[in-house]
Amino acid sequence: MASKFFLLALLALSASHALASDPGQLQDFCVADKTSQVFVNGFACKDPMTAVVEDFYFSGLHMVGNTSNKQGSVVTAVNVAQIAGLNTLGVSLARVDYAPYGQNPPHLHPRATEILTVLEGSLYVGFVTSNPENKLFSKVLNKGDVFVFPQGLIHFQFNIENNEAIAIAALSSKNPGVITIANAVFGSKQTISDDILAKAFQVDKNIVDHIQAQF
Ligand SMILES: *[C@@H]1O[C@H](CO)[C@@H](O)[C@H](O)[C@H]1NC(C)=O
Repeated sequence: MASKFFLLALLALSASHALASDPGQLQDFCVADKTSQVFVNGFACKDPMTAVVEDFYFSGLHMVGNTSNKQGSVVTAVNVAQIAGLNTLGVSLARVDYAPYGQNPPHLHPRATEILTVLEGSLYVGFVTSNPENKLFSKVLNKGDVFVFPQGLIHFQFNIENNEAIAIAALSSKNPGVITIANAVFGSKQTISDDILAKAFQVDKNIVDHIQAQF
């Protein structure tokens, strides 16, 4: 009987944890104290009596990002690094600018689901499910369309037009994190052995060396 109760309690606990990406709030806010020497999961709170309105404010998402890079896109993130008051609140925002035919390359957010809306232009977007299916869900989005990238899944956006495109993304973490697949796999510091990558990708080592040289 006691073990049954324990199991139910465990299930209830894990179910409630599944409801949100970041842990629930136990107070109104916990403005990040980035100078704190205390290491916790997230940032320590500064004294709430010293919180000011600027702790909850950011200006700049009207600014066009500089997309002059190899991918032809740039992300302007607004997370706990920009707004200290987002600490523990489980939400953040980003603006993405795309050059004509630019892309936000395949990447994932280890700690957040993303919901994206197109402000300008048209994007071909998609995500791939986990093993063993690895199924691609993809779609062309136009201005005003909204698309969801589930937490932890590899996804991308590609600008299909010869005009700039703009999207706004909301993410279910104050610190979503980004893992860009190509950079992590082929551009890691220390590189992963080309023996390993050649076998993983079923190509010759010189192909792996060539890709690694791009980073
Ligand atoms: C955009 O970035 C490129 C490459 O870093 C740089 O050469 C260029 O001056 C930047 N343009 C502006 C308007 O800042």
